[in-house]
Amino acid sequence: MAAPPIRKLPPNFLWGFATASFQIEGSTDADGRGKSIWDDFSRTPGKVADGRNGDDATNSYKLWREDVALLTKYGVKTYRFSLSWSRIIPLGGRNDPINPKGIEFYSNLIDALLANGIVPFVTLYHWDLPQALHDRYGGWLNKDEIVQDFTRYARVCFEAFGDRVKYWLTVNEPWCVSILGYGRGVFAPGRSSDRNRSSEGDSSTEPWIVGHNVILSHAHAVKAYREEFKTKQGGQIGITLNGDWQMPYDDSPENVAAAQHALDVAIGWYADPVYLGHYPPYLHQMLGARLPTFSDAEWKVVKGSSDFYGMNTYTTNLCRAGGDDEFQGFVDYTFTRPDGTQLGTQAHCAWLQDYAPGFRSLLNYLYKRYRMPIYVTENGFAVKNESSLPRDLAIKDTDRVNYYRGVTASLLSAINDDGVDVRCYLAWSLLDNFEWADGYVTRFGVTYVDYATQERIPKESSAFVVKWFKERTQPA
Ligand code: NOJ
Repeated sequence: MAAPPIRKLPPNFLWGFATASFQIEGSTDADGRGKSIWDDFSRTPGKVADGRNGDDATNSYKLWREDVALLTKYGVKTYRFSLSWSRIIPLGGRNDPINPKGIEFYSNLIDALLANGIVPFVTLYHWDLPQALHDRYGGWLNKDEIVQDFTRYARVCFEAFGDRVKYWLTVNEPWCVSILGYGRGVFAPGRSSDRNRSSEGDSSTEPWIVGHNVILSHAHAVKAYREEFKTKQGGQIGITLNGDWQMPYDDSPENVAAAQHALDVAIGWYADPVYLGHYPPYLHQMLGARLPTFSDAEWKVVKGSSDFYGMNTYTTNLCRAGGDDEFQGFVDYTFTRPDGTQLGTQAHCAWLQDYAPGFRSLLNYLYKRYRMPIYVTENGFAVKNESSLPRDLAIKDTDRVNYYRGVTASLLSAINDDGVDVRCYLAWSLLDNFEWADGYVTRFGVTYVDYATQERIPKESSAFVVKWFKERTQPA
């Protein structure tokens, strides 16, 4: 019997790999770049698990041509990367000078991608706030200042790159910006009420203020794009949110409710304002007066401020009511089912197990709730103990291959069986890189990086992803 024909992805489907400036560029002092909040934070003893920092990363500021050659060899349709705000405007603010070298760097990268037929997919903010803005007025904590400064930064980027960039993301994973940076204090700028972590900060109020200000900054950047650039440049712009699938631990009504609460805090906190024009009721219930409010004029800017749903997702949690963590909506997460079995293969990081059905469920949930085309802007897996393996074994990354085999099958079912409108899939990451507070020990790349030599060596997962997408994409 002949094998059934391979089911295809929709025409024009974009696929490729993603990175972020601070995780790959290094060269933190080069060509007039200003400091970002991750520079000193990552150099502070105790902040990064392996005691290393972003000074070198994968050296992509110097090796970017190699990265483009690698992407070209893989044959991707698109590459997602982020711009370093403090390379472009070293001091960050709306009256501060623009650094021509910063513009030139990204301009060259964009040109090289286009010359190789690769669509640039650009993130404006992937966590590396200019240090000067944090020092000057508290960065994301100061609504009036940050909204104006972020909008001006966005305008500078649209102006410089928008003739060639047609896919824009404003802010990457605002839940992480707010909760990890200003609540738990494990990410820059490291503010928290936990005095073992930080000497300043108020975890009960700051994360919610920061989240609010991120939403408004995002929305104003989108307004500027739509009013001043979109007609001429013809691109799309949106926000990208992290959010894993939250599954009830069992059928009990309290755990079913817990899973929804977890979704409300992890995703709805940002997605409901942007797509539906209100905060989730559970957030009001949980935070009361601690949840900042938007004026009617602000709601007009916020509601509808994304052309698509940008989805970053990695795993599924089983949710139980009664947790004590406000940042998870008072929901306990576990990977162990009531019968004692595990959801899936454990990754190197504690928060990640491989469970592909959750990917399909999440796509369905988001599409039903927000009715937007979905761009999967990140998805990936860190193989357990990969860093301790010699390179020729590390590149045989079977657990990562299995992960991608699962999610790609889920992706195809969500599109073809469930009718979810998914238009893009980006695997995280092109390269092993600086995994924030985890340092370099946790590896997410489909390409192995030998940090002693900065050599890039494709892992088996890259071959899987490339072949899978090549076989299923069709000409427009
Ligand atoms: C989300 C972030 O956007 C990215 O920077 C990070 O490396 C990956 N998840 C993996 O944790």
